[in-house]
Amino acid sequence: MKCPYSGAATAEPLVIDPMVRDLDGETERLVAAGPVVPVDLLGVPAWSVTRHAVARDLLLDPRLVKDLNEWRLWREGVVTRDWPLITMIDAGRSMFTVDGADHRRLRTKTAQALTPRRIEAIREDIVAFTRELLDAMEEAGRDGSPVDMKAVFAQPLPMRVVCLLLDVPEGSQPWLADGYKRFFSMLTPHEERLEILETFDRWYLDLIRERKAHPGDDLLSALIHSEEGGEPLTEDEVLGNLKALVAAGHETTIDLITSATRALLNHPDQLELVRAGKVPWEAVVEETLRWDPANSHLLMRFPTEDLAVGGTVIPKGDGVVMSYRAINRDPEQHGADADRFDVTRRLPIRHMAFGHGPHICPGAALSRLEAAIALPALFERFPRMRPAVPDEEIRNLPVMTQNDLVAFPVFLA
Ligand code: HEM
Repeated sequence: MKCPYSGAATAEPLVIDPMVRDLDGETERLVAAGPVVPVDLLGVPAWSVTRHAVARDLLLDPRLVKDLNEWRLWREGVVTRDWPLITMIDAGRSMFTVDGADHRRLRTKTAQALTPRRIEAIREDIVAFTRELLDAMEEAGRDGSPVDMKAVFAQPLPMRVVCLLLDVPEGSQPWLADGYKRFFSMLTPHEERLEILETFDRWYLDLIRERKAHPGDDLLSALIHSEEGGEPLTEDEVLGNLKALVAAGHETTIDLITSATRALLNHPDQLELVRAGKVPWEAVVEETLRWDPANSHLLMRFPTEDLAVGGTVIPKGDGVVMSYRAINRDPEQHGADADRFDVTRRLPIRHMAFGHGPHICPGAALSRLEAAIALPALFERFPRMRPAVPDEEIRNLPVMTQNDLVAFPVFLA
């Protein structure tokens, strides 16, 4: 890769740590640095947006697009597929990567399938999965040893739910989950990460072709037979959407359930308010989404002309990162105590954990439903649950864009 900084007239960039050693410290530094901050992403310069109001305006601005070909460093061949984060952006054609009318065409079927009314149909399935996984936790902790609630409970649940929606065979779920885990980790060699993607592509394509031959009443069949805007989705577009749905549909909700459990166990006074019915579980879910969101940084968007925002001009063709964790800790939006976990904040909490504008998360209602079922059931089944290690020992996985814990061990009694 050529030096991406040659010719760049930016101030000293804030380096985003690929090992995610101090997420809170990094978030604080980003917020303190200003609304739009030059950052370094594994040697590549970009701009990080850290304020709610600026992000809201930018996410509605049609001049800020997802089209990779608008990125100057990509067009000029300075950034290539050798850059380890490229897979976050160059992820194939899907609702996640296109803009405008094409984006609506690619997204409509998914959005229709994930409305609060439609997902009510799988509530009982989520309840049943939750019960089974709580049994598995009980079994794992029967001898009094610590149980990793993330691995045993939070991790399998969202994968089972998204696979149920798409009718992805149950037996393939552990293999998929393991592949994604290795793919997202910065410790996995880049070549291996690209191989994982290729293996997934082949596997997903087989699944699409099989479903084409035997359609069912599932979201994948709906995508295959979508005729939005009078034009069916191409096989590549179905593939892109399928990949976006599985990846976005499981990782993030794992983080939500794990983070909410951790936050409550570390704030027993607030847990008590919830147990006493003085604060609804909805408040726990919303405050967790704000304070400890799944997506720390969302890569990447590109201005099609110079954009004057937050006292800075972002030049046409530069990379722009939505730093959702920093945005959610913006004191101008959430008050001087934005850094504090507080389930008594007034609802609705206007956070940006699900993004904003045309690309706002279509799975928001589903993940809220999963968390609203999983969390009360977990705390009811194990009323004496407590952390098994001091919180300072809890580590993040080296997943630069995500708030993903290595493990969260708890004692059940
Ligand atoms: C988009 C967060 C759960 C599917 C997004 C975006 C965010 C987000 C921030 C916007 C990205 C951007 O700035 O462009 C979350 C969080 C979740 C969650 C925090 C759970 C706690 C889900 C679930 C699904 C899903 C359960 C599917 C079943 C998607 C898809 C997109 C997306 C397909 C791309 C939408 C588009 O670009 O039009 N999500 N998500 N997400 N999410 Fe989620």
